[in-house]
Amino acid sequence: MRASPSVQAFLFGTSMRSFLFSEHLIAWQKNYGRHDLPWQKTREAYCIWLSEIMLQQTQVSTVIPYYLRFIERFPNVVALSNAPLESVLELWAGLGYYARARNLHRCAQIIVNDFGGQFPQSPEVIVSLPGIGRSTAAAISAFAFGTRTAILDGNVKRVLARCFGIDGFPGAAAIEREMWLLAESLLPTTEIEAYTQGLMDLGSTVCTRRKPFCQSCPMVEPCIARREGRQHQIPVSRPKKILSEREASFLLLTDGKQVLLERRPPTGIWGGLLTLPEGGVAEARALSRRHGCRLLEMQAMTPIKHTFSHFHLHIQTLLCTVEIDIRRVTEVDGLWLDCEEVETAAVPTPIRRLLRTIPRDGR
Ligand code: ADE
Repeated sequence: MRASPSVQAFLFGTSMRSFLFSEHLIAWQKNYGRHDLPWQKTREAYCIWLSEIMLQQTQVSTVIPYYLRFIERFPNVVALSNAPLESVLELWAGLGYYARARNLHRCAQIIVNDFGGQFPQSPEVIVSLPGIGRSTAAAISAFAFGTRTAILDGNVKRVLARCFGIDGFPGAAAIEREMWLLAESLLPTTEIEAYTQGLMDLGSTVCTRRKPFCQSCPMVEPCIARREGRQHQIPVSRPKKILSEREASFLLLTDGKQVLLERRPPTGIWGGLLTLPEGGVAEARALSRRHGCRLLEMQAMTPIKHTFSHFHLHIQTLLCTVEIDIRRVTEVDGLWLDCEEVETAAVPTPIRRLLRTIPRDGR
């Protein structure tokens, strides 16, 4: 890891001193950064918190409509804390990483119950809330309260790693520790909001992963990766990890108009979301009987693979065409959803993809 000598050279060398990094960045943000994102129009901690959570693993353009709908439906932390989790998950449908929505809901209840409805200001307290890591806590505190505190998300790691020529995977504990120190040492004494936004904007619009636009970068001169032509080697990629393989067998009961779904328990994979019932031929028969359906045909669908952070899931699905006998349908666990409603329901992405392929009545 060459961070320290490079950092020293950068900070105390002839070309640029530490305050110049932030000065350059702030001036660049004012001229070329983003100023009209919906969450930039407010200092309301609730809105900023929501935007930062949505932006954790999702691009700005995808987040904007979700953010606007969410704020309209739950305009403040009390409204969110009073809502049933199901309606929060429904508004989240399609954004993915649903643990974020569950944590958001739990966090709203904590803020109402333990903080009298006031969002805490200091990053040290904010980071103790569910679903909020150190960088997100800092971003919320900087944008909502002007706190002078460092962020270090994936984009910022890339900017700093290239600029300061940091070799080594930035997710490794030792490198990450150094990068936090570096990020803190670069903080300006004023205009923390423009600086923080500048780091985010630079990382996502100029210092991009694949084809960075170095000629548009305010750090083009001192950037070590550019000087050495190593933009594609820095930051160093995550060492490949061997993921385990798992299998799941799902049943897709449908009459072409509706599909049978079940709600998962609140914890674990896809917690609280609507998925297909699990099982094989025997379970398909039993389930049909239980739901008052006549099972007309069973057909194996093309298997799909979905990758989670720790394993690949190979999904086999048995498409069961049924005739629903309305008179015999009783309220048993499970939920018949109209095929059209699947797009807006809280269904995990791979299951939604599967459901899009089923033959439907009238199409
Ligand atoms: N990514 C994370 N936070 C962001 C923000 N506030 N604006 C734009 N992109 C972001």
